[in-house]
Amino acid sequence: MSKDEAPRGMRKGLTSYGDDEFSLFLRKVFIKAMGYTDDALERPIVGITNTYSDFNPCHGNVPELIEAAKRGVMLAGGLPMVFPTITIHESFAYPTSMFLRNLMAMDTEEMIKAQPMDSVILIGGCDKTLPAQMMAAISADLPAIVLPVGPMVVGHHKGEVLGACTDCRRMWGGHRAGDIDGDEIEIVNERLAPSVGTCMVMGTASTMACITEALGFSLPNSSAAPATHAARRRLAEATGKRAVEMATSGGPRPSALVTEASIRNAMCVLQAIGGSTNGIVHLAAIAGRAGLQVDLQKLDALGRDVPVLANLKPSGKHYMEHFHHAGGLPRLMKEIADLLVLDAPTVAGTTIGDSIKAAEEVPGQDAIKPRNAPLKAQGAHAVLRGNLAPLGAVIKQSAATKELMQHTGRAVVFDSLDDMAARIDDPDLDVKADDVLVLRNAGPKGAPGMPEAGYLPIPKKLARQGVKDMVRMSDARMSGTAFGTIILHVAPESAVGGPLALVRNGDRIALDVPARTLELLVDAAELAKRAAALPPPAPSPARGYAKLFHDTVLQADQGCDFDFLVPPAK
Ligand code: FES
Ligand code: MG
Repeated sequence: MSKDEAPRGMRKGLTSYGDDEFSLFLRKVFIKAMGYTDDALERPIVGITNTYSDFNPCHGNVPELIEAAKRGVMLAGGLPMVFPTITIHESFAYPTSMFLRNLMAMDTEEMIKAQPMDSVILIGGCDKTLPAQMMAAISADLPAIVLPVGPMVVGHHKGEVLGACTDCRRMWGGHRAGDIDGDEIEIVNERLAPSVGTCMVMGTASTMACITEALGFSLPNSSAAPATHAARRRLAEATGKRAVEMATSGGPRPSALVTEASIRNAMCVLQAIGGSTNGIVHLAAIAGRAGLQVDLQKLDALGRDVPVLANLKPSGKHYMEHFHHAGGLPRLMKEIADLLVLDAPTVAGTTIGDSIKAAEEVPGQDAIKPRNAPLKAQGAHAVLRGNLAPLGAVIKQSAATKELMQHTGRAVVFDSLDDMAARIDDPDLDVKADDVLVLRNAGPKGAPGMPEAGYLPIPKKLARQGVKDMVRMSDARMSGTAFGTIILHVAPESAVGGPLALVRNGDRIALDVPARTLELLVDAAELAKRAAALPPPAPSPARGYAKLFHDTVLQADQGCDFDFLVPPAK
């Protein structure tokens, strides 16, 4: 072990007063004010992030996970040190949670680097938190182990199993259409999120927990155990113990985990779980921190070989709790083992192949489909290109309407979120069921923060006629819990002059998912004329984080990280 890798406990990263022994003396003076003795301080130190907040119900079990992780650290002879970082909840973050992800990544990275610790446990779960924490860990490159908070348990209503937030949208859609009255929707409101923990469908949080495990960043089987189960707390204790071993041995470091091989594994898993489209943006950002790229063409190509096997909402019918009881991610990866790089390492000191070997067989389960009878023959995501999306756009084909996969329709354009909110339900809006709804100025810079507005509501007058789905497209994102024929992440976005800015009401748009194309059927000369007439881009905000975000955020295909946080590509 090199000098750098040996646990240095309180000596690590001494504040520079020009006298190291005095710096250590002073540090000990202050920490002893908390009641620590030298016996406690002269051990490997394991940092534990505290992302609890009254504004983050998904992280409501963080205090008990911290207690269990601390117990694991102490049982293994280390000293746990809990420290706060920013936390982000989807519904309580204005303007968007995505706007804040990079701030959380910066905060977490800097606090890992600034404070004396030999390894770190990152406890997170709500959509943006795990990506932010992994981005931070890669840049800090200290031995790091992720502990997801785990999904909520399911809810029940009128004999039906339901949960956040695929069913939030479905029920709300039913309410908008007049099928569910005001009294019933109030009751449903109390049943959609019956416990703390993350949304229990295969939304972004579950997707990122699976990607974390597939990258080797968390212990095997850590993505699906419910937030409220004892198994989750046992995982926390085991994570604490392992973090001490990592502090002592100096590894594995994130740089050893995030490689071409593990990114490929993560892309296969993303396709096979029917994962959230947000997972593509986050995986690109995670890879970017390691100097790697997520090649969208490769993701698309893998999707032709990797079927959707996780029978979970919104693509299928079950919930994370059932996925857990069916054997979880290792059992799912076993079905596609021939497509994975099996010797990719994990934080457990094992390989992905070892996780698969230990996978549990659960006769009669229905949450993980066998390879020879998949939920969908192809992977969840297709990547589209064409004159409307020169840098790509994505569609979650596993959660879309089959009949709309090849569709040409008339564009109905909304210029911004406000414009859409003002006009979508206007009884006089000129819109028909076979039109293509277009939303622009909702990308990384445009909105800003690329809101989850890509799930444009079906105009009320059409919903009332029974229209359940339409082709919708935007430079926005969409919740991983949503269902519909929805084209997202159109890049470059309209706010930087992308072709989405050139669409006019009545233009014809052709979508062909099997051919992977997205075309605006307007000739090039006319488009050039429209481009020349575009107004200049909006000015940068005057100050603060909003300015930093606007001036440095990358486009969706590059993960929406800040340009100055990404090292040169390997
Ligand atoms: Fe936190 Fe869904 S809102 S995971
Ligand atoms: Mg979400």
